[in-house]
Amino acid sequence: MPGQRPLLLNRASSDISGDRDIAEEDALLTGRPTQRTASGPRSWKFWREVGLFVWAVIATTLVIFLAVLYQSSQDAKHHRPHPTGKRNLIFMVSDGMGPTSLSLTRSFMQFQNGAPFGEQLVIDQHLIGQSRTRSSSSLITDSAAGATAFSCAKKSYNGAISVTPDHEPCGTVLEAAKKAGYLTGLVVTTRITDATPACFAAHVNMRQEEDRIAEQMVGDFPLGRVVDLMLGGGRCHFLPNSTVESSCRADGRDIVELAKKNGFNYIDDRAGFDKLKGGAGVELPLLGLFADTDIPYEIDRRNENDVYPSLHEMAETAMKALSEATRDSDKGFFLMIEGSRIDHAGHHNDPAAQVHEVLAYDKTFTSVLNFLKNDKTEAVMVSTSDHETGGLATARQLHTTYPEYAWYPSPLANATHSAEHLALQYAKYLISSPSDEQKANFIRDSIRDGFGIYDYTDAEVKNLVDEPLTALYQYADMISRRSQTGWSTHGHSAADVNIYSSDPKAATALVGNHENTEVGDFLREYLGVDVDAVTEELRQKGAGLTVSDVNGTQVSWMGNIPVEGQRLDGQNHVASYGGDFKKRHLQHGSACDCGN
Ligand SMILES: *[C@@H]1O[C@H](CO)[C@@H](O)[C@H](O)[C@H]1NC(C)=O
Ligand SMILES: *[C@@H]1O[C@H](CO)[C@@H](O)[C@H](O)[C@H]1NC(C)=O
Ligand SMILES: *[C@@H]1O[C@H](CO)[C@@H](O)[C@H](O)[C@H]1NC(C)=O
Ligand SMILES: [Zn+2]
Repeated sequence: MPGQRPLLLNRASSDISGDRDIAEEDALLTGRPTQRTASGPRSWKFWREVGLFVWAVIATTLVIFLAVLYQSSQDAKHHRPHPTGKRNLIFMVSDGMGPTSLSLTRSFMQFQNGAPFGEQLVIDQHLIGQSRTRSSSSLITDSAAGATAFSCAKKSYNGAISVTPDHEPCGTVLEAAKKAGYLTGLVVTTRITDATPACFAAHVNMRQEEDRIAEQMVGDFPLGRVVDLMLGGGRCHFLPNSTVESSCRADGRDIVELAKKNGFNYIDDRAGFDKLKGGAGVELPLLGLFADTDIPYEIDRRNENDVYPSLHEMAETAMKALSEATRDSDKGFFLMIEGSRIDHAGHHNDPAAQVHEVLAYDKTFTSVLNFLKNDKTEAVMVSTSDHETGGLATARQLHTTYPEYAWYPSPLANATHSAEHLALQYAKYLISSPSDEQKANFIRDSIRDGFGIYDYTDAEVKNLVDEPLTALYQYADMISRRSQTGWSTHGHSAADVNIYSSDPKAATALVGNHENTEVGDFLREYLGVDVDAVTEELRQKGAGLTVSDVNGTQVSWMGNIPVEGQRLDGQNHVASYGGDFKKRHLQHGSACDCGN
């Protein structure tokens, strides 16, 4: 035991000072006063010496005991605990939600509810720390490197799906949990093959390889099936390219069939979801894909509640199903729940869509707290973001004159749809080849009906007529300008993000400011699982294993390695300012690279 030895050594080396000094020393350590009277009969003096000696022995033992106790409590904080009892771990990811998303949404909530400025979101009341988010290739991470920091507890390059910078697979906490006997689940609102969920149950060198990710997630990779429950969107990567309308696969493989062969029950619509009876009717393993690509933003989805389940409904179903399925097990479950599209609203610079995404996340956060309160199994929930998106500011300088100190939630409250929805409707309308006058009418209607904006200008409408390819950004900017919401990018930023927990004591290791990989460390340590053993197994079983790519060429089972010089490669962007600072016009005529 550390701590014991030095104390005894110190004690032995101080023999000249005598027991009385030891008593004083211990009194200093224990805070107890000593007596210093010298006179009195000899027998009293003798017994006093004996008494002091006995006291010294007891006090010394006490000090050693306390020191050992302190040391082991420090060990518990800093080293892997060995959980013996049954545990559940719920890891929530708010993709792309920075601290300003909370200010934005809190003020919006207060405006909408007529609440006082002291009113908080539920999540606000569970803040414990912050996470630093850089990847191995850039100060600004993407979701792939961000989630690899959580799943593998390792820094990797932007685009990496649980592979290291040398393109070797790294075992994930979900895989290790499955090996250890836990049940596992993933719940998202984006494609289940998107970077965050993919990083828990797949390994590819480039995040774009979602076809391959779909195959791996249903068990077609060295470890076999590791996920027991998946709910979200992204059907199109599971359907063969013969399903012309709904497939986005490059090949003819039917991954739904493959999933069924591997034991999955498959559902793909709201009716199927309702039959799960909030989790009571779930038979694991379960694959539920409710949209071809992403599930619509909450601001739009709430008008189509009969088509798509909400995030909190999916989360509640997952928690109940996993909890019931582990009822008689000595191991609990690991569940990852992602508010996936907070990030997309940031990419689109759409503040109205964003506040509804964050509110949906807050509602789901509440569902998780309620589950934990009513479930007997020892458990913790940790929630964090992979990065901030949009460089969001609750301020915007609209003119060159000195800025006003104001931003307005009311334009957000008037919007009943996202900019994405309006742009999609507009794109569909354009297929009928309308005249410019018809386009302008369509646009004016969409702005009034979708955004509740009545002071639109002729210039705003004309620009939408003339530049339909950037309609999404133009629509979103109409709300941003009116609410005076600022954005510095359509991509991510390097801002630190918040960490929240249901139990700051259980998550002590994450209190304060941390590297994102420490969140990954916490996950595996809380569950007490051996992720390194999974890494070893992946490397052994995957060595020399190849699959054919779309052109029939044999490539590594983790797919092609990104070409050097590509944007998402492993080069280090930290020190290399390239002299690019001049203003550029929008690249009209080319599709905007929205998303991710
Ligand atoms: C579907 O994928 C196969 C390869 O698996 C390819 O040969 C075929 O041309 C594709 N069909 C379509 C309609 O894209
Ligand atoms: C919101 O909509 C109302 C009409 O429903 C309108 O009077 C008001 O001006 C709108 N607010 C903003 C900020 O556009
Ligand atoms: C497959 O072949 C096409 C046509 O030669 C090429 O453009 C594409 O890059 C190839 N894809 C891969 C993954 O090699
Ligand atoms: Zn993103």
